[in-house]
Amino acid sequence: SKERTLSIIKPDAVAKNVIGQIYQRFEDSGLKIVAAKMKQLSQAEAEGFYAVHSERPFFGDLVSFMTSGPVMIQVLEGDDAITKNRDIMGATNPKEAAAGTIRADFAESIDANAVHGSDAPETAAQEIAYFFSSIELN
Ligand code: CMP
Repeated sequence: SKERTLSIIKPDAVAKNVIGQIYQRFEDSGLKIVAAKMKQLSQAEAEGFYAVHSERPFFGDLVSFMTSGPVMIQVLEGDDAITKNRDIMGATNPKEAAAGTIRADFAESIDANAVHGSDAPETAAQEIAYFFSSIELN
């Protein structure tokens, strides 16, 4: 069924100048970009977004990486958008990501892994609301 998911193109992929190539993959898989913004996250914004990971050993590195440069944030819509986006992203660790996935093709490490995507309907709703107000969403 039709869903929405939150996607972030992380600072590594923005710096590599591959926003367009990643957008092409969203579109080729049938996902529609229904809202988007480029943003430099503050430390507080990154900490809040990743609050679920706050007790993990990689939290500090994750927050400093996500604030190291601008990110491109978008809402993707389509049939099974959450799973579809996770499929085209590939595994969190690019070394384990299947050939042809975004992370296999554009990511360097588990930290600099090019993209984020919501993992479930509840987190998708939460993450979309974290970055977009209702007037920005059609
Ligand atoms: P993301 O989908 O944005 O969600 C949390 C991020 O933490 C994840 O992608 C990785 O980039 C990063 N991360 C770093 N180390 C780990 C780890 N051991 N397990 C999961 N995520 C990690």
